[in-house]
This record gives sequence, structure tokens and C-alpha cells, in this order.
Amino acid sequence: MMMLADIIADLEKKLKRDRFVHTRGVAEVSVRLAKLYGVDEQEAELAAWLHDCARVYPTSALIEECVRRDIPVAEIDRQSPILLHAPLGVYLAKHVYGVENNAVLDAIAYHTVGREQMTTLERIVYLADMIEPSRDYDGVELLRKLAEEDLSRAMVAAFDQSIAHVIHGRGLLHPNTILARNELLMNER
Ligand SMILES: [Fe+2]
Ligand SMILES: [Fe+2]
Repeated sequence: MMMLADIIADLEKKLKRDRFVHTRGVAEVSVRLAKLYGVDEQEAELAAWLHDCARVYPTSALIEECVRRDIPVAEIDRQSPILLHAPLGVYLAKHVYGVENNAVLDAIAYHTVGREQMTTLERIVYLADMIEPSRDYDGVELLRKLAEEDLSRAMVAAFDQSIAHVIHGRGLLHPNTILARNELLMNER
């Protein structure tokens, strides 16, 4: 695997400035939450640094970049190509940065829409992506507070936020987000 310092230098070179600042924020928050919840800090930091590595490609190029690497593209991905930066990010993490740790690769894979049975590491990267310091939207303060208190409740609130955002933009809801939210709510009852 490439050294983390070299990965960061490569990302700083390739990502747009605001995307790099966002990514650095996700890494900072992920490390803090990893400490809080007893997750391996190095795995959290690595997953966070790489979660948006495929954003080096414009959204309009994501379908083609996936197809030429034999990464499956579902109908919902064709309709909402931005979703593909997650599986393409996994591919780049493996093949460009040499990451072999499946827990790290899964945290990259599931940071956009989530899934049922998310690991603590996956939850941390998902939440850090939504609450890092440069994020600014109605409700972000509540998410920041919940993330420090209760990961399950924070995830429900994060899915609520994400679903509302998608609906507001008349976007397609990904079934995995619904399944993941339902699972958490059923476990609360
Ligand atoms: Fe992302
Ligand atoms: Fe992100």
C-alpha cells in the first residue's frame, strides 16, 4: 500500500481545492469518532482520506470510467451517476493506492447510500462525510451532536437528512438507504 502521506499528497494534487478541504475534514472527524467509539483510528483515517478519491473524475465521466473497469453499473447508477464515485473509489483505492483492507474498502463503498448492518467504521465515515467542519446546512448541528452521543440515532437522523435532500431535488431514493433506515428504526422499538 502507498504510504498515507503519499496518498494525501496525491489527493491534494488531483482533487479540486474544496473537495480536498472536505476530505481533510472527513479525515479529522473520522479519527475523532474512531477514538470515541473504539474503532481502529488508522483504518478510519485511511477510509476517510480515500472516500471521495473518485471525485477526481467529473460526474459526467463516471459511467464510462466504471464500464471500462468492468465495475457494475445498475439502472439507478445510470440515472444518478454520482453514486458511482463510491464503487469507483473502491477500485482506485485497491488498484492505485494498494489498499487491501476490506473493512476500509467497505467504508468507501457504503459512504454514499449506506446499507443494512453497517459496521461502526462504515457509520463513522458516513457521518463524518455529512458533518465535517465545512458542511453547512439546516440540521447539521443536530447531526454533529448526535454523532458524539449515539451512532444509531445519528445514522437515522443522517438518513432522514439525506432522504429529504434527495426528495427535495426530485432524485431517486436508493433502496439501500431505505432498508438501512428501516433496520435502525426497527431495532429502536
Ligand atoms: Fe462521496
Ligand atoms: Fe465526501
